[in-house]
Amino acid sequence: MLTQTNHKQTFRFVPSTSVPVDPKRVEEILKQEWEQFTKETGKSAEESRRSFKALPLGVTSSFQHWDPYPISIASAKGAYMTDVDGRQLLDLSMGFGAMLAGHLNPIVVEEIESSLTSGMLFVTPSPISTDAAERICNRFGIDQVRFTNSGTESTMYAVRVARSATEKMGILKVEGGYHGSYDPFVVSSKPALDKIGDPEDPTPAIDSNLVPGDIYVVPFNNISALERMFEKNAKKIACFIVEPVLENLAIVLPDEGYLERVRELCDEYNVVLIFDEVKTGLTAGAHGASARLGVQPDLITLAKSIGGGLPLAAFGGKKKYMDFVTNGKMAHFGTFNGNPLAMAGVRAIDRICSDEALAAAEELNQQALNRISAIIDEYQLPAHTVGFGVKGCVTWSTSPVRNYRDYKATDFGVAEAHWLFALNRGIITPPGLDEQWLISLAHGQTEIDLLVEDFRDFAKALRA
Ligand SMILES: Cc1ncc(COP(=O)(O)O)c(C=O)c1O
Repeated sequence: MLTQTNHKQTFRFVPSTSVPVDPKRVEEILKQEWEQFTKETGKSAEESRRSFKALPLGVTSSFQHWDPYPISIASAKGAYMTDVDGRQLLDLSMGFGAMLAGHLNPIVVEEIESSLTSGMLFVTPSPISTDAAERICNRFGIDQVRFTNSGTESTMYAVRVARSATEKMGILKVEGGYHGSYDPFVVSSKPALDKIGDPEDPTPAIDSNLVPGDIYVVPFNNISALERMFEKNAKKIACFIVEPVLENLAIVLPDEGYLERVRELCDEYNVVLIFDEVKTGLTAGAHGASARLGVQPDLITLAKSIGGGLPLAAFGGKKKYMDFVTNGKMAHFGTFNGNPLAMAGVRAIDRICSDEALAAAEELNQQALNRISAIIDEYQLPAHTVGFGVKGCVTWSTSPVRNYRDYKATDFGVAEAHWLFALNRGIITPPGLDEQWLISLAHGQTEIDLLVEDFRDFAKALRA
């Protein structure tokens, strides 16, 4: 047994021995499970056929689609969703983190209902939006903030602030990093390996339908590649945008000292450091990942967990950068920005997400990680667990994943079998195989037991 890491309260457990999984067994499981899936989800299939007419792929965001068709959900409450076939599913996706407080959390509902008595949209200043901004600034330790409606908008505006402040146009991102769908960020988001060259000096992968501008790409957790990049190109690079913990490639932890050195290099080369906390945010702890990991960026972007499930996002940070919004060099607009309903979400989350409440959810997550690690050990699976805050994942690889290329070397066949096995037994996690489970404030011991015991059943099935 080997515990790999525990710096800054991150979690990674890599067992020292493992026995390979038979690929034929994985194929058998996948075949059986897809048959069961199609047998039990007839109404989702019908819904999918219907929705294809009005919606491309039958979904409102391309993430939501999978073949042959995704599960269609009729309602959700607490930690559970009910699909159109009437099956109850334990939700471990929780809106990619947006439902951190749980579905229909009574405090969120109360704040929304009370907000509806005072209006829907003012498009003027209001004490309601000032109050929400103060709460976000206090919680995340930033000077100023502006609200938007999605993470994509927030990352786009954060980059524009950096460009205005530095009068440089280049954007540096991590290979495999996802920051929403603004053109520059789609570059090398999940590129095909045959298009991206040397792992130490990756070639940006640019789709022909994009106008990304000047975009540079480095591997995560690689300080010498970053140093070389800055030596060569820092005069053109406005910002380095990075998730402090990558949460779009399962969970990839920063090496000890990596973010600290990134901070120093950005200062040295006049590059604005943007931490994209759209996914980490409050799922990393009550004050976000930056506070937890002890490295302060110049700007942060927030979404998902800060709004209680309402469409709310934000970008903010040091006043010296947000001054470019004030002086109009980077004007920021939006009809729905700071709308009262979304602001009610901020108030609710501020009431709900205390240090204690999040610490309790994290403790449950830690328990799940420990128990699943023990099962991996017992069945000598070629896998390991990684956790951060209230999120965790099983990564199907015997060595730690430190960057995109490592992630691409993990076993996606077993990952798919695991995801589908759980789905057929009433547990829904995100479909992308690059996501993680989330223990929300609505999950308790019963739900942890379901997660862990389902994993044990899957381990048994793999070894059967
Ligand atoms: C790290 C990160 N940044 C930005 C975004 C974009 O957020 P949104 O989907 O709200 O536009 C996402 C979405 O998953 C994300 O994971």
